[in-house]
Amino acid sequence: MTNTQKPDLSHLWMPFTANKQFKADPRLLVGAKGMYYTTTEGQQVLDATAGLWCVNAGHGREEISTAIANQTRTLDYAPSFQIGHTDSFRAAQAIAQLMPNGLDRIFFTNSGSEAVDTALKIAIAYHRARGEGQRTRLIGRERGYHGVGFGGISVGGISNNRRNFSSMLLPHVDHLPHTHNLEQNAFTRGQPEWGAHLADELENIIALHDASTIAAVIVEPMAGSTGVLVPPKGYLERLRAITAKHGILLIFDEVITAFGRLGYNTASEMLGITPDLITLAKGISNAAVPAGAVAVHRDIHDTILDASANGIEFFHGYTYSAHPLATAAILATLEIYEREQLFERARALSPYLENAAHQLKGRPHVIDIRNIGLVAGIELESRPQAPGARAAEAFQKCFDKGVLIRYTGDTIAISPPLIVTEEQIDQIFDTLAEVLTTID
Ligand SMILES: Cc1ncc(COP(=O)(O)O)c(C=O)c1O
Repeated sequence: MTNTQKPDLSHLWMPFTANKQFKADPRLLVGAKGMYYTTTEGQQVLDATAGLWCVNAGHGREEISTAIANQTRTLDYAPSFQIGHTDSFRAAQAIAQLMPNGLDRIFFTNSGSEAVDTALKIAIAYHRARGEGQRTRLIGRERGYHGVGFGGISVGGISNNRRNFSSMLLPHVDHLPHTHNLEQNAFTRGQPEWGAHLADELENIIALHDASTIAAVIVEPMAGSTGVLVPPKGYLERLRAITAKHGILLIFDEVITAFGRLGYNTASEMLGITPDLITLAKGISNAAVPAGAVAVHRDIHDTILDASANGIEFFHGYTYSAHPLATAAILATLEIYEREQLFERARALSPYLENAAHQLKGRPHVIDIRNIGLVAGIELESRPQAPGARAAEAFQKCFDKGVLIRYTGDTIAISPPLIVTEEQIDQIFDTLAEVLTTID
């Protein structure tokens, strides 16, 4: 069977997909190069979403493919427990160089979900190592997305992801309010002026539970998966100040925001805020091989290591932590980012994307446009009794017109690879503008 023939679709249970609907009218990809996907019909589709916010250097990068292919021939796999391989240390160093000061100890995972669960465990282990084992409470945020592990859905704030498992979520978790507010912030360009005070809710949560029971606060600097929620000016700064005051660790989930998505190494760098841990995945390997990591402040790392006289200091890890193919992909990816100055490119293109996105103001159904870095969110008014239906229709129609967008609920998210051109940005928003006029 050639690659372009349609396979039997019945066996695959697709993740986060309306399976029955999809299989009735499938969209299948068979190739990708640069900014474009190729479908089974041979249609070229402009990738306005960098896959799932992850193919930051564009598709089919030869250097990454070559590095992976060479790696399979020289060292296909190496155990990561009690033995190492040289590139795992090089990859850790290369990542550490991009992290804020001090966050230079790297723990490898295979995904963002694993990075989140790993970071939560490190936070708990750290307090225990310091003799504060009672600090086990974790604080997430409404509308947060931290992957699908039990830790991630517990601190996450998406009811669809939690409902089935509500009695089995991690105990002792609380949530900050989300920062989305259309009345105050609709059509803000960049970071909203209103909303920093929402961080003060953390003081109330601390007053309720007592700081001595709280291990960590975890937030996405920009909440991507729940509809591009841009942090209000001063909000993350306040979270940092409050957590520091109470000895609570601050975890930034930068699975989306790191590696150039906002035009910087990390959102932490962009905003000048240093958390205690950063979770990473997606753009870390240009998504060519599944990979993730946690960047940990060296004091946290040292505290956990120093608490054990000998033997394994942290009972955690994955068969595929620092998989040789992943570290090969990471090293090749980070080299491309550096050589092609892709983060600077994203930063320079951000105002263009902002302008193009905000041109949609006044188009049918558009009730908000938000943007930061090379990300834009366009929120549509929900159709009565059918939330999400308008954005789903826009997704389908844009795809038919050769542009892949993404949607969550009724918010459309645009996050192209960092190699996108101004003409391609125009194409994305022109297509969207046209499609919106055809939707009731
Ligand atoms: C902020 C954030 N954290 C964690 C995850 C989970 O990553 P993965 O799907 O690789 O497990 C995602 C995925 O979109 C994410 O956006």
